[in-house]
Amino acid sequence: MRYTALIQVFSMFVMLLGLQSNVSAANDAVAHGEYMIRVAGCNDCHTPGYVEKGGNIPTSQWLTGNSLGYKGPWGVTYPANLRLLIQSLTEDQWVTFAKHLQARPPMPWFTLQIISEPDLRAIYQFVKSLGPAGVIAPNFVPPGGQIKTKYIDFVPVSAKYWKGFSHITAQ
Ligand code: HEC
Repeated sequence: MRYTALIQVFSMFVMLLGLQSNVSAANDAVAHGEYMIRVAGCNDCHTPGYVEKGGNIPTSQWLTGNSLGYKGPWGVTYPANLRLLIQSLTEDQWVTFAKHLQARPPMPWFTLQIISEPDLRAIYQFVKSLGPAGVIAPNFVPPGGQIKTKYIDFVPVSAKYWKGFSHITAQ
């Protein structure tokens, strides 16, 4: 009888250890995801005020998308709300999405494509842990279209060195 109780206590202990290591692995992924977002510069565009405040924005306000547009030969683009996007995808869907994304400038989609799968999964875990926030960013405005928001002008000043964007067909 006593022996069985001992085994029970022991197996509970082992189970708890297992749970504990699962929890800390998940925490590690979340922390690594936060690090990835910081060093990959995603906040620079996807978090309102991030650059203006020298990065001093609480994580709860990160990646909610931006209604400050980027205007250039491609039209006007708005950094997407990644908090809402990630909520709508499973982790596997996010990995596939990120690996195949091609977006308009100035989104560095080619950088997103080369982020390793474990790093992408960590990014997912972190952003998902923040929960949904904010509203969907304004729609892309094609060149010459009516712009209703504030925007930053990206003007290529030297036609000599301007070769356009290889992945975008001229409008
Ligand atoms: C220089 C600004 C900038 C940076 C830095 C940036 N993005 Fe973006 N991102 C944008 C813009 C602008 C768009 C919208 C592009 C469009 O309309 O085609 C976008 C779009 C996206 C999309 C597509 C969303 C959708 O629903 O189609 C994803 C995903 C994304 N960004 C993730 C990231 C991640 C992750 C990082 C960091 C590795 C990052 N971005 C860094 C500006 C940026």
